Amino acid sequence: MTMSGAKSFYLTTPIYYVNDAPHIGHAYTTVAGDVLTRWHRQRGENVWFLTGTDEHGEKVMNTAKANNTSPQDWCDRLVTDAWKPNWKALNIANDDFIRTTEPRHEERVQRFLQGLKDSGHIYLGKYEGPYCIGCEEFKLPADLDEGKCVIHGRPVEMLSEENWFFKLSAFVPALIEHYKKHPEACEPTSARNEVLAFLEGGVTDLSISRSTFDWGIPVPWDTKQVVYVWFDALLNYATAVGLGDDPASEGGRKFAQTWPADVHLVGKDILRFHAVIWPAMLMAANLPVPGKVFAHGWLLVAGEKMSKSKLTGIAPSDITDHFGVDAFRYYFLRAIPFGSDGSFSWEDMSARYTSELANDFGNLASRLIAMIEKYCDGVIPAVAKDDALAAVLAETVATADKAMIALDFQGGINSIMDFCKRVNGFVTEKEPWVVAKEVARQAELMAILYNTADAIRALAVLLHPVMPATCEVLWSSLGADKTLGAIGDQRIADVSNWGQLPSGSRVVKGAVLFPRLEEKEVAK
Ligand code: ME8
Ligand code: MG
Repeated sequence: MTMSGAKSFYLTTPIYYVNDAPHIGHAYTTVAGDVLTRWHRQRGENVWFLTGTDEHGEKVMNTAKANNTSPQDWCDRLVTDAWKPNWKALNIANDDFIRTTEPRHEERVQRFLQGLKDSGHIYLGKYEGPYCIGCEEFKLPADLDEGKCVIHGRPVEMLSEENWFFKLSAFVPALIEHYKKHPEACEPTSARNEVLAFLEGGVTDLSISRSTFDWGIPVPWDTKQVVYVWFDALLNYATAVGLGDDPASEGGRKFAQTWPADVHLVGKDILRFHAVIWPAMLMAANLPVPGKVFAHGWLLVAGEKMSKSKLTGIAPSDITDHFGVDAFRYYFLRAIPFGSDGSFSWEDMSARYTSELANDFGNLASRLIAMIEKYCDGVIPAVAKDDALAAVLAETVATADKAMIALDFQGGINSIMDFCKRVNGFVTEKEPWVVAKEVARQAELMAILYNTADAIRALAVLLHPVMPATCEVLWSSLGADKTLGAIGDQRIADVSNWGQLPSGSRVVKGAVLFPRLEEKEVAK
């Protein structure tokens, strides 16, 4: 099935700080990455999907202290009790999970750093200026408002340290040229414009070590210093796939198959790190830069970025307990254009749940199964083809595929849900319950039911990346798991081949796909 040897579609999420448990902002990015990688898998591509945790630095160290434990113990606990179970609960199919405290990461970071030092990209200097522990970022005067970080609203520290510096400024012309030549390397356009303006405004060299605490990776040639947490963290994308390993080794082969990453998915808060510092680090090491950094917008609470530090983080389970995991996965990508900010509203989510998921999709499926049971003894009738419906499906697949691979999740999901509406319209218009009353119109009835069933087969495959568990339930209630194989093995390019659902296979009445919310509340 997989084409070993072919370059993988390699996608990463940020590695999140483990100073606290995940909230729906983190879930937003990771679900988007999961949906996109599942889509690419169903296109038949080799895929590698990485997520993980960012464990060094002052922020995590201070949190551990405040909780009367060691940083390593704190990280272990958060990863085991909060982060990994959260991704499992959300049905995230990542291929790897990297922690920056793992030896495989630390060793490769040290080797990479030594390489940059040896090739003259690193020098000793003095950093004097503001630092925000919330951002783990050396700040410029313009980043502050009355001495406070504009993102965290908290006073910054004033640092005065002898540190190791990376010659970031040397790469500014190459970076500007890169983004002008490859506009797709930084998206959306607003993000690219921000990066270009930042680069054109002049960039200073970057302090890449800290000397006043020890929770970090030691600088190999100066072990009184630890590597600056962002320099350490950005490297995860490459260390996780074997950065710097012998080409003949397992790590080296993995690197050849994955690097450069195709998409780094990030929130716009960390755009500059990814679109300026990271590619410069790679250029300094003569490595190819990533294909794309995509900076999505923020989930807002009361008009401000939802965050751990402001205690406005909503836990994913607060939402999934009520709406279910798949409605959660669906809602944010469907409701907010990827790249724009969006506010979470319980009312809007309830409304979409009911109209789009329960009524348009869930009811369509349960009506079809009920009619096949009633009129066909539960057996899929003979293959038939409604040319109009088949033509709309072909268009839908083309539109959805184009949108999804361009990270326009809203556009992609909309086109699939429009097809779902069209299928509902088909059933309403054909009135199978009326046709069923006339013995002479049996063949017509069977054709209506077959067309509806095969259209739902297509919907299940197209929505599978977004709502895997629900679509698997639907797939087996169509009997397709036994005849067509696993739903994840169905190819996007084949979806519009009409008439795949084999006649004669048995449907099974399954659980209601999207139960009414009122009933759920009663059940609680
Ligand atoms: O920045 N809306 O980690 P972090 C949308 N460790 N997305 C949000 C969000 C919100 N309100 N809040 C968080 C770090 N996110 C570094 C990253 S990568 C080498 C190191 C998501 O725990 C979004 O993806 O602060 C954002 O960029 C990320 O979480 C920041 O997570
Ligand atoms: Mg943050």
